Amino acid sequence: MANAPAEVEAQKQAAAARALELVRPGTIVGLGTGSTARYFIEGLARRVRSGLTVQAVVTSLESRAQAEAGGIPITERTDGWLDLAVDGADEIDPAVNCVKGRGGALLREKIVAHASRRFVLIADESKLVGRLGRGAVPVEVLPFLWEATSRSIESLGGQPELRMTAGRPFTSDNGNLILDTTFGTVDAALSAALHGIPGVLEHGLFFGMARAAIVGSAAGVRILGELP
Ligand code: A5P
Repeated sequence: MANAPAEVEAQKQAAAARALELVRPGTIVGLGTGSTARYFIEGLARRVRSGLTVQAVVTSLESRAQAEAGGIPITERTDGWLDLAVDGADEIDPAVNCVKGRGGALLREKIVAHASRRFVLIADESKLVGRLGRGAVPVEVLPFLWEATSRSIESLGGQPELRMTAGRPFTSDNGNLILDTTFGTVDAALSAALHGIPGVLEHGLFFGMARAAIVGSAAGVRILGELP
């Protein structure tokens, strides 16, 4: 049975609170996007107001607005790796691979995750799956000839559907379209094949990227993988 909405929020909050313990003073932190990441940003802002010195890289305009309002210094320049990135996920498998991007921020989310020494997921337990691919995989594509790109995705066995919002195509923060694509099987080979299609800018399959997932559950916070 699905958890009540208040319980789901409490689980997200508990996961975000545990992730805040990983933030080291004087570092650059990657801030994810979505309802779970919001709790992390909220907590980080509280810590910054109490004197913690950090800078943040944001993965969306929405997270930027929240971070700025909370007084977290934002940067887009690093001379090396980010120390830590913390983000939500749509599906997480037992090996801490995940699907992301149902909030539409997958391209920047993957860049930030890849640029971070430690990438940690935060989620409520409804995100745990035995196998990825329960729902659609978001694929960000260039608007130019997007129907041709869509057909190439179909040739990989996918069923792409253009994401719409208020009767219009959804546009990402980068000005691109999202094709929510259902696949029979989702694996690392599919991830590589999608990257081989011109016009595909990024997709929401994150294989081998997260070191751990902090998951709020009815029984308390669980850790999948190893906390770095
Ligand atoms: C944003 O593009 C997504 O990758 C989110 O991180 C993901 O959809 C999880 O969002 P929630 O925390 O709102 O479930």
